Amino acid sequence: MSTIKSIGILTSGGDAPGMNAAIRAVTRAAIYAGIKVYGIYHGYRGLIADEIEEFSTQNVSNIIQRGGTILKTARCKEFQTEEGRRQAYETLRRYKIDALVVIGGDGSLTGARIFGNEFSVPIVGLPGTIDNDLYGTDCTIGYDTALNTILECVDKIRDTATSHERLFFIEVMGRDAGFLALNGAIASGAEAAIIPEISTEVDQLGELIKAGFRKSKNSSIVLVAESPVTGGAMALAERVKNEYPEYDVRVTILGHLQRGGRPTAYDRILASRMGAAAIDALLDDQRNVMIGVKNDEIVYVPFSKAIKNEKPINRNLLDTLHRLSI
Ligand code: F6P
Repeated sequence: MSTIKSIGILTSGGDAPGMNAAIRAVTRAAIYAGIKVYGIYHGYRGLIADEIEEFSTQNVSNIIQRGGTILKTARCKEFQTEEGRRQAYETLRRYKIDALVVIGGDGSLTGARIFGNEFSVPIVGLPGTIDNDLYGTDCTIGYDTALNTILECVDKIRDTATSHERLFFIEVMGRDAGFLALNGAIASGAEAAIIPEISTEVDQLGELIKAGFRKSKNSSIVLVAESPVTGGAMALAERVKNEYPEYDVRVTILGHLQRGGRPTAYDRILASRMGAAAIDALLDDQRNVMIGVKNDEIVYVPFSKAIKNEKPINRNLLDTLHRLSI
């Protein structure tokens, strides 16, 4: 019999479409199991500053289809200090919150891991980030929606790229991870993706230039993952402009629009499954684990692994992209 009678739920770090579906799932699965739920606003900052509200099933009505997070989010410097975490723990005690569900990316789960160990608080994490850069799960919540947003944008840019016979560098998010760029490139029929994972091995732009971009077509689209390692779309475009003035080069940085919008069916289902699984995990006395989905099965990934292990890019995808872009 689990001793958990009440939980707190928060979203932290960059928001991601599907976070609301996850909040809904956690809340409803908890209430279904007879567990009290507290919504914590503004991530760890709200845990420190006591921005907490008891949630009923109605608090999460009509949110499954909405992007963003109804709980708001923040990146909290104070929680990185021992004093900040102690204050957070005091809040938990005041509300008699026995366990936490944290929805967020790498940084948020790192905070959860430290806090959970320091104060013996049972914490279950849900991978919520468009970057898809958490090890141990095939996809993170928000990634599929962001990928679909990228496709919509690239399709539009292609119209003008083709009309003007231009070379476009389109920068996508990913914070040092190339999942959005690589799969976005395959799905949009782009010519290439420039990703941080292989930046130190090959001069990806150099190779493209050598190949003369797309020989058989007179417009080209290259997706670039934001990262100091790739240099970003601006820097790459400058290099081409300087060295090859014959190319008519343009840059589009998709930026934060990639984080918004209605979550896709895939993200809603993923978030719903993971949210319900978070409650199962807590009832099963799991601690310091992230919920993942691998080969369509729910898995528990220790925080240490989810955070520390690099999630590898599937290199076959690079080959597929290369072969299909002739
Ligand atoms: O981690 C999610 C993410 O959207 C990254 O892809 C991006 O680098 C970063 O957050 C942007 O953060 P902010 O919203 O603080 O500018």
